[in-house]
Order: sequence, then structure tokens, then C-alpha cells
Amino acid sequence: MSDETSDLSTAASDVSAEVQSQSVPGFPRWWQNAIFYQIYPRSFSDDNGDGIGDIRGVIDKLGYLELVGVDAIWLSPVMKSPMADHGYDVSDPRDIDDLFGGLDALDALIREAHERDIKVTMDLVPNHTSDQHAWFIEALNSEPGSAARQRYIFRDGLGDDGSLPPNNWASVFGGPAWTRITDTNGQPGQWYLHIFATEQPDLNWENPEVFADLEKTLRFWLDRGVDGFRIDVAHGMAKPEGLPDMVLDNVGLLSNDDNDPRFNNPGVHDIHRQIRAVLDDYPDAMTVGEIWVDDNVRFAEYVRPDELHLGFNFRLAKIQFDSEAVREAIEHSLEAIASVSGTPTWTLSNHDVEREVTRYSTADSPQAGIDRARAMILVELALPGAVFIYNGAELGLPNVDLPDDVLQDPVWERSGHTERGRDGCRVPLPWEGTTPPFAFSSNPDTWLPIPAEWAALTVETQLEDVNSTLSLYRQAIEYRKTRPEFAGEAIEWYGAPAGCLAFRRSLGKLVCALNAGPEPIGLPPGEVLLSSAPLVDGKLPPNAAAWLV
Ligand code: GLC
Ligand code: CA
Repeated sequence: MSDETSDLSTAASDVSAEVQSQSVPGFPRWWQNAIFYQIYPRSFSDDNGDGIGDIRGVIDKLGYLELVGVDAIWLSPVMKSPMADHGYDVSDPRDIDDLFGGLDALDALIREAHERDIKVTMDLVPNHTSDQHAWFIEALNSEPGSAARQRYIFRDGLGDDGSLPPNNWASVFGGPAWTRITDTNGQPGQWYLHIFATEQPDLNWENPEVFADLEKTLRFWLDRGVDGFRIDVAHGMAKPEGLPDMVLDNVGLLSNDDNDPRFNNPGVHDIHRQIRAVLDDYPDAMTVGEIWVDDNVRFAEYVRPDELHLGFNFRLAKIQFDSEAVREAIEHSLEAIASVSGTPTWTLSNHDVEREVTRYSTADSPQAGIDRARAMILVELALPGAVFIYNGAELGLPNVDLPDDVLQDPVWERSGHTERGRDGCRVPLPWEGTTPPFAFSSNPDTWLPIPAEWAALTVETQLEDVNSTLSLYRQAIEYRKTRPEFAGEAIEWYGAPAGCLAFRRSLGKLVCALNAGPEPIGLPPGEVLLSSAPLVDGKLPPNAAAWLV
């Protein structure tokens, strides 16, 4: 490789740098450029010593969140729930589960977070309820065709005796998406649809009562001071006319496909417009939708000015550490929102996907995983828009290979023990000390076991070490918030050697360079503000990124 091609300093003067997303206007609203921190409540911090994280545990750690520099927290569901899917099965959407500390704890969290200038956003689950929700219990005790049944999706079965499900839909968690009920007289009855677990019956969004109830829920939380919502399965809710069969071969568990009739049906946009009309009564509040839609045109529809404020773009959370894939993911994410002047969102992981440290590891080098995750946080935080950090990512936590007998994700059972599910990315956070449970809880019996090796990754250890992943996050977030080089909404790309990429914020001129190739590379001119690994003879080593000003 000649010096010229392995050196970004020549590329830096490349006049052909393309400007992207120039038409996106400024980011005047708090959420457009915010650092959101996702808290998986079971796993963050346990206050009452039952081994399961709770809201008072979150309050206890607000000082930590302030130190990290987050602007807002997103709490995964804490509403009343039998916890068949750890809170994503809600039995009362306007109350907080006792496991998490009840309504008083949430009120206290809102108050105390606001005192520290941290916004509080909550998960909202409009696609389905728990099978223990009063509506579903009423539906089971009511006649076919009754008003109570029409809040859900009940159908007669096929075949002479109705013993076959109404269509071939599969549950995202494995097995069929239909369950047959037993009528009050003991006879087999109708079937109900559940795109997720059996305990999560889908609501019938054609029934106006369903939105009327969601409106109550939205106002209930907004009036208590909640700053916004993450909307679960925001591409679900609406179902296609006649519930046509799906092509089963295309869709694996927990994966998505744009032609899947279970999701992304056009009727969903009216629902988002109704939600937005409520949110517009609370001008400082926002929504971010979970949208597993690949096509940029279809994706953009969700973030039109009268729908969601933000949509999760999961491209960066799905790809490996590959400069072309990273560039393509960034370009697509910017393109997807450009046509509607939307705000980009960036996320490397969440409670449903493998942690990035593990995703980037190679068989011969687990260290590569952590180095690459550190590099990618500089890429992510250099980009314009809202950033979502999943709790524990700032500690560089990997996924945990848990033993079979502790697995709890419904996916494990429903897949007939062929898919391990998502527990590996949900292990409780290590706070301090040298042995599990690392002050996550006073109870050694935590809901998922914490590996002893995490002694090296505790918050306490990392706060004291300027070279830790936590220190890198803190420094990067602080620069992003305070340095003028992060101004503006557009980025321009530099030409870069194979395996590398570099871009610049058009207005502030911050340069971010990523080396995903095998050789050290020269850097563009400028002062190095921060790098994810020490430079080697002035060059950026493999599996590293740097910011230059
Ligand atoms: C979303 C959530 C996931 C949950 C599912 C069902 O995909 O992120 O954790 O299991 O919805 O509510
Ligand atoms: Ca607890």
C-alpha cells in the first residue's frame, strides 16, 4: 500500500467531499441533539434488596448519570405487569408495578431527575396488553363478537371444528401467533392473536376505544411530568385487511422483513397522528418509535411532522465493525430522515440485541471487541442528532453466556430451547467492590447472575482510571456538549483508505476518523482532541477512532 492511499491526511484536502443532509434544519428542541440513556430497570440498581433493580435504585444513581453527562433517561417499562416479558406485558398502563416501587417512586424519580436537569422518558406499549389486563379478562368471559372481545383480535378457528389457527402467523418469540381459548362452559372457543408471547394479546386498533384509552395513558404520565415516550413496536398496531398469511421462510425469530404482513401496515400512520395530536398539547414532550423498517421511504413516513418526533434507526446496531457497512448505515440513516427534515437517531445496542463489545469481538481476539466498541462510540457521538446509549455500554460490558437454567426470556421456551433469547445483554450492572453482585443489590441472588470477571469493569474501578471506557464516554460526551466543533446538522465525507472512513461536521468542522483496517493510518491535519486508543508514531492504530479539531 503506498503512503498516499494509507494516509487520511491527503484525503482531508479531497475537494470531492460530499455534503450530506444539508437540508436538515437546526436542532432547536432538547431531544434533537440529546444523549438518551436507556435504563433496563431490572438490571440497573436494586434498592430494596430483592435482587431485581427498581426505581429507587435509579434515583440512587442519578448522580452517576449526571457524571456520565446524559440529558435524558429512557426507562424500559415499569408499569403494572405480571412480567411474562419483563414489563412489556402491561396489565395496568396507568400504574407502576410494586416490584419497581409503585407510583410514589416514579413521582420521586421525576422530581429528582428534573432537579438535576435530566429528562425522564418512559416506554409505552400500545400494540398489546398483558393477558392479566382487566380488558382481556373481561374478553375471555364474554361472548364471541361482544364489545369486550372486540378490543382484541379474536377469530374463529379454521377447519370443521375450528381447531386450526385463523392464519399461519408466527409469534416473533417462536411458535404460533394464535392461542385458542377455553370458553366459560369448558368448550374450546375462539383464537386470539399475539404477535409476541401468549401473555401479550394484540389490541384491535380499529376499535376507537383502544386509542381513547391510550390517550388517557399519555395524559396521565405527561401530567405527572414525564418528558416523553419510547413507543414499543411503533411499526405494529395496525393489521392488514383480512389478516393474510405470511411467508414463513423469510422471517426468523426476533428479526424483521419489510414484507412481513404483521408489521408496517399503512393504517399505523393514523394512529401516530392521533398520538402526536395529544403530544402537541405538551410542547416540550417527545416520542421516539421502535421502527424495524429498512426501506428509507417507508421509514420516513413515521417521522413526518405530524407523526413521531424521532424514530429509532437500527442500522448501526445491526452491523459488524466494517467501515463500508458503517458508512452505509450512516448515509442511509441520514437519507431516511432527509425527505421529511427529521432528526437522525443513533444507537449501537439496546435490550433486544447483542451488546456491541460481543458483536465486534473476533474468535482470536476478544480485546478487538472492546477496542472497536470504544472506536464506535467516537463515531456515534461525532454524528449530528439524538444518541441512545444502553445501560452498561458505557462500561464496555459484553454479552454474558448464561447457563440454560437461569434463562428467562420467553424466547428460550417458545423456541423450544433453540434460541437463547436476550438475557445475555440484560445482566445487572457492576457498581463497586470485587465480587458479585458488585453492589448492584445487597442480595447475592440477583435475577440474573453477574460474572465474577466483571470485577474489572465496575463503575468504581472505571471512574478511577482515565483510560477506562467509562472515562472515554464521559470525556466524549463532555466535548460533544461544550465544544463549538460539534455545531451544525450536516456532515461531509472524506475519501479514505480501504477499511477506514472519515467525516467532518460541515459547520463546526470536527473531524472523526475511524480505522477498521489492518494497518495504522496517518491522520488529517489538525489537533487530536480525543482518540479511543493511543496513537502509534502519530498514526491511528487499527480498531480505533479519533476526533480532530
Ligand atoms: C419490543 C421490545 C421488546 C419486547 C417486544 C414486545 O420489541 O423492545 O423487548 O419484547 O417489543 O413488547
Ligand atoms: Ca428491587
